[in-house]
Amino acid sequence: MSATASDSIMETGTFVNCFLLVISLVIIPVNGGYDKERDALLKGTFPQDFIWSSATAAYQIEGAWNVSDKGPSVWDTLAHQGRVYNQDTGDVACDSYHKYPEDVALMKQMGLKYYRFSISWPRIFPTGEQQDGVNQDGVRYYNALINELIANDIQPMVTLFHWDLPQVLQDRYGGFLNNHTTNTTVIHDLFGDYARFCYQNFGDRVKYWITFNEPWITSWLGYGVGNFAPQHNEPAEGQYKAAHNIILSHAKAYHIYDDEFRAAQNGQVGITLNCDWGTPKTPADADAALRYVQFFLGWFAHPIYKNGDYPEVMKTTMARKAQEEGRTTSRLPEFTPEQKLSISGTGDFFGLNHYTTVEVTDACCTPIENPNYDTDKDVGTGHAPDWPRAASSWLYVVPWGIRNLLGFIKEEYGDPEIYVTENGRSDHDQDPAIMMDMERICYYMMYTNEVMKASNMDNVKVKAYTAWSLLDNFEWLSGYSERFGLHYVDFNDPTRTRYPKASSVFFKQLVRNNGYPEGSEFTKYVENMWYFCHNTTEAEVNGYTGGASQISSLFSLFLAIPMMIAYSLIA
Ligand code: BGC
Repeated sequence: MSATASDSIMETGTFVNCFLLVISLVIIPVNGGYDKERDALLKGTFPQDFIWSSATAAYQIEGAWNVSDKGPSVWDTLAHQGRVYNQDTGDVACDSYHKYPEDVALMKQMGLKYYRFSISWPRIFPTGEQQDGVNQDGVRYYNALINELIANDIQPMVTLFHWDLPQVLQDRYGGFLNNHTTNTTVIHDLFGDYARFCYQNFGDRVKYWITFNEPWITSWLGYGVGNFAPQHNEPAEGQYKAAHNIILSHAKAYHIYDDEFRAAQNGQVGITLNCDWGTPKTPADADAALRYVQFFLGWFAHPIYKNGDYPEVMKTTMARKAQEEGRTTSRLPEFTPEQKLSISGTGDFFGLNHYTTVEVTDACCTPIENPNYDTDKDVGTGHAPDWPRAASSWLYVVPWGIRNLLGFIKEEYGDPEIYVTENGRSDHDQDPAIMMDMERICYYMMYTNEVMKASNMDNVKVKAYTAWSLLDNFEWLSGYSERFGLHYVDFNDPTRTRYPKASSVFFKQLVRNNGYPEGSEFTKYVENMWYFCHNTTEAEVNGYTGGASQISSLFSLFLAIPMMIAYSLIA
């Protein structure tokens, strides 16, 4: 680009920035939730080698649900029973099985050097068991995707299990409920075999492995509440049994890598845990908030990253409940001493998915007739009235929550290297489509800035940030009604064309700037947007389609469009 052309573009940028500044002063921040000191913009950059990535998962994007020999997963079953909103299914989804080169091109266009995706177990082993046969077409597909990524200088970060358990394993063995208290549990070995096969076939090119995505969801929603696949409803115990097996299966897969592959392949293996930050509603609720986080994150993180066993507060709480319920043993299973040894320390990095925060109150200790994981915690949860909301009913926008959570992980688990493997915000599926997705831009702006505070001010070893999601996709029970993508996908169009949203342009600039460097045009833009972002989200409290949308569309019209044009020209 010639000096004159780039100068005039920079001038356009400067003009837009001045315009933004004036407008942000005119839209007086009326937000009670905004804390000047806590929420101030931090200028600076992430460490040089910081990993910027975006993520997807097999069932949510691939489609091709029965192509070649792929076996059905528990999510195929659930969706085909019509249990998803609008009877949506993942049969075609984003059709990434066929369109993966386009997905890679989108990442390339955004300057992303990493991509987190998951392998579908039943696409590799149709029944889940290697001895029953391997689907070579599935192996070909993942090889092609990985090769396409590498050819475009994008590192694959692979999740082995993102909820799509082979249906046959659920039918044959009860899935993750299989013999949870014995040493000979089949499911551990089967997961180990599957992991080994993936290391063997893809590990020459894949250097980051995530064994399980959010075992909390599989355990509680899949085997406790049972509204997620495989729809097992046993809320008193199902989640504890499943979690027990998942932790042991994870440890198995970790050791297989350690013993058989690490020396030659030199990669890393971890697990991705999800956790909402729990903030006490009043100072008197501090212990309850801690208990909430221990039951949520500690349930999995304590055994894996601390000492091979469940958190003390979980064990004592559950022991007391057993007494109150007249049981001879706790509903929380116990690990044997050998198992504890094999579980402890099985994470080369700490994968974290985080989206939101809850306000916690103490609700100790009323005995409950039908106990379940929710009541076991002895807490109540709610949300502060000034926390803005996204389209997903559970998603409240509380950026400072992620900084607190990262600090907690640093302190509690011996300062591990943390990869934020998911963070993002949903919009409704509406007409006209939300392409100028300013609320998503604000979300990424505010949350990544809090991550930078954790990294640069609190010395948390955050090594990666991953946007969920690269594409709008199948949002589990909500089907296609909630959109998390940086790119819009038209699910009524058989070609599933992808369209970049404004947030993809923003994210590209964020990656290019590696944060918010002092003096850059990008940071000036962010600075001028800062109050608007907090202000907009505040207005949203009054209803998603209320004031905020009006401000938002006004904003889109007068500010976002010129801003985006200016920045995509600079890009
Ligand atoms: C999951 C994703 C999901 C996202 C938004 C995470 O819990 O890993 O699969 O789409 O949250 O709900």
